[in-house]
Amino acid sequence: MTLLESDVLTFLRKAPSDYYDSVVDTFGLCSYGDPTTVLEEVTRVVKPGEVVLLLEHGRTPEVDRRGKGGEKVLFDEEGYYKVKKTSKEDNDTSSAGVVGAAGVPADKSSLHTYLDDLLDRGLPQHLASWGGCHWNRPIEQIVADAGLNVTERRVVHFGTGYLFRGRK
Ligand SMILES: C[S@@+](CC[C@H](N)C(=O)[O-])C[C@H]1O[C@@H](n2cnc3c(N)ncnc32)[C@H](O)[C@@H]1O
Repeated sequence: MTLLESDVLTFLRKAPSDYYDSVVDTFGLCSYGDPTTVLEEVTRVVKPGEVVLLLEHGRTPEVDRRGKGGEKVLFDEEGYYKVKKTSKEDNDTSSAGVVGAAGVPADKSSLHTYLDDLLDRGLPQHLASWGGCHWNRPIEQIVADAGLNVTERRVVHFGTGYLFRGRK
């Protein structure tokens, strides 16, 4: 195993296409200068059909994009909403798709507004104390824009945490 330190884009741009068996990125898309380009490069360098795993955080999911992706927003009896499970996830009891919080307005638009507003307003202080972490980035949009073929998606932490499994 080789461990090396590099600017992410400098490293990826030197790599051949269809080269890596898998790529894992944890909490990087919040911090890279151009996260969409990084993810496009990740998709280029991974072998066709192989795995890209992303564990990320950002602003809450865009409801309209979720609809376009074929997923339906569901509400439970208390008004909290859930990401519809894929048939694969239906057997996985550890899936943490529930987002919502006591004290947070229950309708989806005000829930999104409430959380995203907190992230937006706190960004300057967060950036200063966490060295370049943009915690209000639209992770779903970045993933969609980069063209990753998402095969699994989970949303946790009141809608601000994401796990994506994808391939090119
Ligand atoms: C929120 S931290 C996550 C660290 C680690 N991946 C983890 O999950 O604990 C974001 C990391 O991205 C790194 N980073 C930011 N811009 C980068 C770049 N252009 N190239 C490589 N790493 C970068 C930062 O140095 C920082 O370590």
